[in-house]
Amino acid sequence: MSEATLKKGGVCIYDMSDIFEPYMIRDMLVRNRFMRSATTSAFSDENGIVNDTIIKHYEKMSKGECGLIIKGHLYIMDSGKAHDGMAGISKDVQIPMLKKLTDAVHEHGGHIVAQINHGGVVHSPDRAGPSVYGEDDWIARAFSGDEIESIIEGYGDAAERAMQAGFDAVQIHGAHGYLISQFLSKHVNKREDKWGGSLENRMRLLLEVYDEVRGKLGNAPVMLKMNSDDFSDDGFTIEESAIVAKAIAAKGIDLIEVSGGGRGRRADLRERAKNSDYPDLDFGGHAVKIREATEPTPMGLVHGYTNLETMEKTIEADLTDMVSMSRPFIREPGLVKRLKAGAKETTCIRCDACRANFGVAMMQCLLE
Ligand SMILES: Cc1cc2nc3c(=O)[nH]c(=O)nc-3n(C[C@H](O)[C@H](O)[C@H](O)COP(=O)(O)O)c2cc1C
Repeated sequence: MSEATLKKGGVCIYDMSDIFEPYMIRDMLVRNRFMRSATTSAFSDENGIVNDTIIKHYEKMSKGECGLIIKGHLYIMDSGKAHDGMAGISKDVQIPMLKKLTDAVHEHGGHIVAQINHGGVVHSPDRAGPSVYGEDDWIARAFSGDEIESIIEGYGDAAERAMQAGFDAVQIHGAHGYLISQFLSKHVNKREDKWGGSLENRMRLLLEVYDEVRGKLGNAPVMLKMNSDDFSDDGFTIEESAIVAKAIAAKGIDLIEVSGGGRGRRADLRERAKNSDYPDLDFGGHAVKIREATEPTPMGLVHGYTNLETMEKTIEADLTDMVSMSRPFIREPGLVKRLKAGAKETTCIRCDACRANFGVAMMQCLLE
């Protein structure tokens, strides 16, 4: 191990430029800078219980030397389940198999994080979110104030179960158009009480969820995956995202993973998140702004990494602390080990065919 240099905020960096060296997040020493972004297999049973096939995949990623593995999203309460096959952390009965999963990861030196989520308007059939909101063939009702309070408690209960199940940390899912991102977005959130209107009000749910989760976790890291932009023309922007990121950093979040895409998204608006210095990273430009707003808080960046050169460049340039990927680990659970042995890039071409199996079979790469 190279000599440790102490960096800002208690974050200890071993040879800042070396992607294969350990990195400290709060008191958790992760073995390298690689992060598996949360990826649901949509293959759990009707009670949200994971199975041995799913566990095997996590074991392979840990054996393959991925440092920080974010488990696919887990619903915090049954009324927040976002799709069939989603795994849950809403009831104690789900804990034993999750414990088996975390044990399998730990056995091979990896760290494992529970991503906790509530689907909001995506939960069917009782669709509900910040305010009345519809898309194509459905319409969601607005949550009452009491329901919002019980959801916040639900996040805390889920965080407690995550600790019982042996997870090393919790990541709050604040991206991709689920409940927290629905509240943040003025495209979805039209409330006129303390949960809507100004950005201060729209971010209240996230901040209260953070406090609730932090209260249950003791010294374990609390992380956030957040949108840098929802890519709608009237919703959550990078300017708002940087303000929210700064607020949650000030509260003490241990890592922010920068992502993007939410309700009302338009493919033609995605270009605004790019940066010509990192052409293959879809949110490279927005990441610079979040970084500026949140340093020294540790950051992860997802969406676009395929080659080692870009991965190393973003670590060396201090654009991000962790390199996060999803689809490459579906194709190659052993990716990190292969890169360490000299490979230059993943064989994943991010074609999205893996999504085609959603809810039909365990996620797998469909490429030859
Ligand atoms: C099959 C599949 C399942 C996913 N499930 C989740 C999830 O549970 N939680 C989440 O935050 N993102 C989820 N994502 C998004 C990924 O974490 C990631 O943000 C996105 O795929 C971009 O990264 P990539 O280009 O490395 O694949 C999923 C993506 C795929 C392809």
